[in-house]
Amino acid sequence: MFKQLTLCFTLAAITAFSCLLITAPVQGQEQIQQIAPRKIPPARRSYMGREIAQTMHYTGAPWLIRENRENEERCSIMLGNLGVKTGMTICDMGCGNGFYSLQLGNMVGPDGTILAVDVQPQMLHLLRARMEKEAIENVTPILGSFHNPHLPKNSIDLILMVDVYHELSHPEVMLKYMRDSLKEDGQIVLLEYREEDPKVPIKPLHKMSKKQILKEYQSNGFKLTKEFDKLPWQHMMFFGKDPEWEEKASK
Ligand SMILES: C[S@@+](CC[C@H](N)C(=O)[O-])C[C@H]1O[C@@H](n2cnc3c(N)ncnc32)[C@H](O)[C@@H]1O
Repeated sequence: MFKQLTLCFTLAAITAFSCLLITAPVQGQEQIQQIAPRKIPPARRSYMGREIAQTMHYTGAPWLIRENRENEERCSIMLGNLGVKTGMTICDMGCGNGFYSLQLGNMVGPDGTILAVDVQPQMLHLLRARMEKEAIENVTPILGSFHNPHLPKNSIDLILMVDVYHELSHPEVMLKYMRDSLKEDGQIVLLEYREEDPKVPIKPLHKMSKKQILKEYQSNGFKLTKEFDKLPWQHMMFFGKDPEWEEKASK
């Protein structure tokens, strides 16, 4: 009887403990995320007048590393204007198969870290295979959920989001978590295909206008700090935390 009771208590304790764990980093694997059960906000179909696009499926991953991406999007010019310094902690949010994560890994050097977040485990497997092939060790794949990127708080210098934001099913919740994860002077750098330009050969749902981006970011505690307008297809907009929004929110 006593043995049975002890076993019951042990199982209950393990279950309770595993439900409470927030993040358990495991060497050589995606970080295993176990979060306390809580209410998951419903996925949105639209946000502030914009229809939300569907998540790009992992079977489309080869398109992300196509040979002519540099020619079409001038990715190296974008990276050169990102303000990356060695030793930085950068999040590649919606990293896909890591087209940018690996390049950022090289740019920040051995003292820097790239947190590569995606919601599709298949994308992270493709990323890991590319990391192994190129012997990149400072990229940490993180399996996020649609409403929570599972990032550490107050610790990130820069969050890069390339062609991702328009597909977030929980934009305002994700922006809140990203805001919390940034250091005080941390920035989100947003790249979205230009809706204003009919010559950009991308489906309308996967494009965004500057006006819409500003509306959504300013409503969620960010202010525009810089823009780079010389990419052929995309807006590149830098956002920092807006302290006035914090003051208003605390009143
Ligand atoms: C069009 S791909 C862009 C990939 C990469 N940024 C690039 O430019 O090569 C969009 C990626 O965002 C991911 N994604 C969508 N919603 C997400 C979310 N809530 N959190 C993290 N990743 C998300 C998708 O799984 C997909 O891999």
